[in-house]
Amino acid sequence: MNGITRGRFEVFSSNDESLINKKLPKELLLRIFSFLDVVTLCRCAQVSKAWNILALDGSNWQRIDLFNFQTDIEGRVVENISKRCGGFLRQLSLRGCLSIGDASLKTFAQNCKNIEDLNLNGCTKINDSTCISLSKFCTKLKNLDLTSCVSITNNSLKALSEGNRNLEHLNISWCDQVTKDGIEALVGGCSGLKAMFLRGCTQLDDDSLKHIQIHCPELVTLNLQACSQITDEGLVSVCRGCHKLQFLCVSGCGNITDASITALGLNCPRLKILEVARCSHLTDAGFTVLARNCHELEKMDLEECILITDNTLIQLSIHCPRLEALVSG
Ligand SMILES: *[C@@H]1O[C@H](CO)[C@@H](O)[C@H](O)[C@H]1NC(C)=O
Ligand SMILES: *[C@@H]1O[C@H](CO)[C@@H](O)[C@H](O)[C@H]1NC(C)=O
Ligand SMILES: *[C@@H]1O[C@H](CO)[C@@H](O)[C@H](O)[C@H]1NC(C)=O
Ligand SMILES: *[C@@H]1O[C@H](CO)[C@@H](O)[C@H](O)[C@H]1NC(C)=O
Ligand SMILES: *[C@@H]1O[C@H](CO)[C@@H](O)[C@H](O)[C@H]1NC(C)=O
Repeated sequence: MNGITRGRFEVFSSNDESLINKKLPKELLLRIFSFLDVVTLCRCAQVSKAWNILALDGSNWQRIDLFNFQTDIEGRVVENISKRCGGFLRQLSLRGCLSIGDASLKTFAQNCKNIEDLNLNGCTKINDSTCISLSKFCTKLKNLDLTSCVSITNNSLKALSEGNRNLEHLNISWCDQVTKDGIEALVGGCSGLKAMFLRGCTQLDDDSLKHIQIHCPELVTLNLQACSQITDEGLVSVCRGCHKLQFLCVSGCGNITDASITALGLNCPRLKILEVARCSHLTDAGFTVLARNCHELEKMDLEECILITDNTLIQLSIHCPRLEALVSG
């Protein structure tokens, strides 16, 4: 506990005589408060002057989820929280907080340099300047969700690659301005990426996947849903470079064929979840290789893979004992 906090405790003991405050050491109250959610903390802050000081102590505000208040959250709220929490804040979700803009997030980045997990899913107002702020100040960032932040461009990915080299999970689904140049910059700087969610990044092509092949050996999760330009050439490359893949979604990538599924079988033995809905060129030949090599398979989505017959199901039932969910038809 730091000096400031200890100072506050002295104020506390001289002012508040309630039984609970006499019986429980302040450190313990503070510890209890640290498990409370935002709403409960704010209620506690209204109980008494002493509890106000304890409940609003930055150390209680390490993980904040404002999703339930999304439309009410204005920039000022985020700025105030940032200043209060400062270096304590590790995790912040502003999912769906539509009115948050780049200026508030700049204040946030400057104050909360220890942030590890930031969810900006659906914060549609923000543009590249937010990622530039994160790049300058938030070097510990590991998880960043920018789903549907549609103004984001390659410049954001370039900034992240320069300042956020600890990034492990990135979601830029539906950020459809991003091209292969952005992916090239990103994976060149962030070599520890474990999960990339690129759903609906419709400009991405096989060249983008070749950059992933070369730079992302740690990749476990890759979601390319509806990246419809992708073909076997790119996907086979990913399989050859990313042997640790456990989750792959290429649903809606209608051009891929058995060559991709075969490469997956031969290179990615740890695969657990495969989603290939609407990949209508796929046949039993690919899935036979897959089933014989990927014994950890747990879930598959084969919806509208119209060429697949019972033979695939038989191979899966023989070789994949953990398979518990199979969508087909
Ligand atoms: C932010 O903090 C300022 C100064 O402490 C205060 O006047 C203002 O009401 C706060 N605004 C919000 C929206 O919390
Ligand atoms: C981001 O949007 C702000 C307006 O909110 C604008 O002033 C700024 O120039 C934009 N920055 C970039 C990098 O697009
Ligand atoms: C978006 O990415 C985050 C990690 O950055 C992940 O936890 C989340 O599940 C992803 N969302 C979707 C809808 O895939
Ligand atoms: C980045 O993306 C834009 C489209 O948003 C594209 O026009 C540009 O060529 C890409 N590359 C660079 C280096 O900016
Ligand atoms: C297949 O690729 C071509 C371009 O090579 C593209 O125009 C077409 O939309 C793709 N088909 C599907 C079903 O995704």
